[in-house]
Amino acid sequence: MFQLSSEGLSAVKKELARYEAKDSAIIPSLYIAQKENKGWISNDVIHHLSRVMEIPESKISEVFQFYTMFNQQPVGQYHVQVCTNISCALEGGRELANHICKELKVKLGDLTEDGRFTVSRVECLGSCGTAPMMQVNDKYYENLTNESAMNILRGMK
Ligand code: FES
Repeated sequence: MFQLSSEGLSAVKKELARYEAKDSAIIPSLYIAQKENKGWISNDVIHHLSRVMEIPESKISEVFQFYTMFNQQPVGQYHVQVCTNISCALEGGRELANHICKELKVKLGDLTEDGRFTVSRVECLGSCGTAPMMQVNDKYYENLTNESAMNILRGMK
């Protein structure tokens, strides 16, 4: 059963106090909860947030399902999100995502055997001028080649 830590709980309460409409606190609260639930949002998380925020589960689910930055299943210690939107696609973003999957021996969206990596294709991450790029957890890596991307990932402990 998921429960926010006391820090997480006070962070969610802070978000609730920040906005006039409670619904505006859903996105930041989902972020807080996702971090505390090893990178993904389960039904338990939604149930808990609903009770804490006094917002119906259906409303929280709606927001959660709309945004791709919230994960619907467990992810690895490193969540590799490769942008394959137009600018990145033109610079080889799709091939880069395929290359990373091949090297890590994993299918898109699945966990590597050691549980360290999940690779996803995502829409524009707002770094189009430095395509192709990927986000790993909270960090951006830009102007990638197959080689530089793999060097970055292999260097992750
Ligand atoms: S298209 Fe990849 S960051 Fe915008």
